[in-house]
Amino acid sequence: MITKPTIDRIMEVTDIVEVIGEFVQLKKRGANYVGLSPFANERTPSFTVSPAKGIFKDFSSGKGGSAVTFLMELEKFTYPEALKWLAKKYGIEVEETVENVENREEENRRESLMIVSGYAAKFFHESLLETEEGKNIGLSYFKERGFSNETIKKFELGYSPDQWEAFTGQALKEGYQQQFLEESGLSVKRDNGSLYDRYRGRVMFPIHSFTGRVIAFGGRTLKSDKNVPKYVNSPESEIYHKSNVLYGLFFAKKAIREEDNCFLVEGYADVLSVHQAGIENVVASSGTSLTVEQIRLISRFTKNITILYDGDAAGIKASLRGLDMILEEGLNVKVVLFPDGHDPDSYVRKFGTNGFKKHIEDNRKDFILYKTDILLKEAGNDPIKKAEVIREIVESVAKIPDSIKASVFIKECSYLLQIDERALLSELNKMRMAKAKKDSQQQISRQVVPVDETLLEEPKVLESKDDANQEREIIRLLLLYGNRVIDWDGIANTYIGPFIIAELSDVEFENATCKQFAEIYRSEVENGVLPDEQFFIHYPEKEIVDLTVNQIATKYTLSENWYEMHKILVSDEQANMKATVLGAIFHLKKQKVGKILENLRKELQTTTAEADQEILLNQYMQMKKVEKTISDYLGSVIIK
Ligand code: UTP
Ligand code: MN
Repeated sequence: MITKPTIDRIMEVTDIVEVIGEFVQLKKRGANYVGLSPFANERTPSFTVSPAKGIFKDFSSGKGGSAVTFLMELEKFTYPEALKWLAKKYGIEVEETVENVENREEENRRESLMIVSGYAAKFFHESLLETEEGKNIGLSYFKERGFSNETIKKFELGYSPDQWEAFTGQALKEGYQQQFLEESGLSVKRDNGSLYDRYRGRVMFPIHSFTGRVIAFGGRTLKSDKNVPKYVNSPESEIYHKSNVLYGLFFAKKAIREEDNCFLVEGYADVLSVHQAGIENVVASSGTSLTVEQIRLISRFTKNITILYDGDAAGIKASLRGLDMILEEGLNVKVVLFPDGHDPDSYVRKFGTNGFKKHIEDNRKDFILYKTDILLKEAGNDPIKKAEVIREIVESVAKIPDSIKASVFIKECSYLLQIDERALLSELNKMRMAKAKKDSQQQISRQVVPVDETLLEEPKVLESKDDANQEREIIRLLLLYGNRVIDWDGIANTYIGPFIIAELSDVEFENATCKQFAEIYRSEVENGVLPDEQFFIHYPEKEIVDLTVNQIATKYTLSENWYEMHKILVSDEQANMKATVLGAIFHLKKQKVGKILENLRKELQTTTAEADQEILLNQYMQMKKVEKTISDYLGSVIIK
């Protein structure tokens, strides 16, 4: 377990804006920062970071929490993993208590898979740099291709020995479990149950998640034998979903954000060469056609994609349709072709950084114009084919969400296609209408999906619909006002938090997390500590953090649009703290009493013995009195 002083130090130096800024483009808005949710696909930013509170809140997905929970959500880190990531970022040495050092067997499956992948990367990397075979075959190959030591180290390139069990044998010897070796795809099971290496005699390209952990591999053969597959890749696993990963993104994301552009290439070698040439905003789709997930991944960092193709015509045509998808996501797409026989890798090595940049500068074409060009050439003079081209182009333009941008394209296309601009516009409008109709239908079906309403609803309706709401209202008050001093008639010299806890000592919370929260609060108070917002934001249990953030980070408190409303609401409840606090306490009590009454009624209906009935009736009458007292009280305290 990581020690408390280490955790405290990490919390002290962690700047949530800086941490989240590594994954999400944030813009300052008032006291907060906003950006596009990394957890949902959205066009208007609803993802909010409050540096003052040290929390984020994503109004699209409902997720929220501290920098630690952010990393846990996004990267599926465990709590200690997230802490270690932060420690690494801020150069803090992690102290762990010996008896609890995470046991490999106790790690969850994902973690185990990442650990075994990380181990494999290290194994292949060392075998590249330190074994005779690796140096003679793998390293000399990389050198021949022009990769520097720095590139080899940075991307953790490796070599898998040309033996059946070199890796598997070593991994098993070091205690890695068969299950994870197999699930990660690093080892393959024979019929007799034993394992052998998937990668043999190949140069290895580890694939990193976009937070930098190794999750898969591509292994390239060094043989020219046509019967040997050029690349062997990791199979899909719990940590590797090919369609969600872009090769090189971890090393590129900073530059992508800075340059506000992402170069997209096809192969590992292209990424390495271009990156090595100092153009670091480059990623690869790794041979597959681009997926929506990959585009969304890029769009977290920039809205501009420049696709670098080698000039193979068949490939270009095949990719055209996929690209419409990028337009739909609202991204700007440019295309650059390389002369026959060249790919970005060979081009940058031959012409250098400046030659490469110049080629891009001179040949960069907007995707739609490029598509028009290609399709037109193909159609030649055939009028039917040309009509088809027009339809296809307008269809692409219709996918651009920004209508100003779209009309610019219409103008340019009308020139290229030699067609009256108005004809194109009317075609465009028809498609737009059809699309709007389809979207609105989708919207309706989307609305049916249940969302956790409590996150988005007005937070301080006193008459709430269910127990959990009422319980959460108590939690909210504890968080917001728990350490304020009470100064009401008859009650003074106490804090609101302990007061609420004491008042509710006869009430059992039903919602498990609320209950746990109240218990933590009570035990802290008993230890003489008044736990505050920060205490709960950094509490090591995710449910508690979630509950906390959901109570303090409502649209009213974090979103600018709602700010005015927030001011009104909060000042209302603060103007009459007594009514707010007592109201919440008594509403909860009333609800519990209501429950008891209901149960008693049910029992009365089913009980036949007269004696029992009398007892029940007695209890019932008494509870009725309690209910009446509470109602009277609520009536007098709360004006509404
Ligand atoms: P390329 O054949 O262009 O590979 O495929 P490359 O990386 O540029 O290799 P060099 O330059 O010949 O060394 C592009 C990408 O397609 C995927 C790989 O991700 C590769 O980087 N690919 C290709 C496969 O997954 N399997 C294959 O058999 C071939
Ligand atoms: Mn290549």
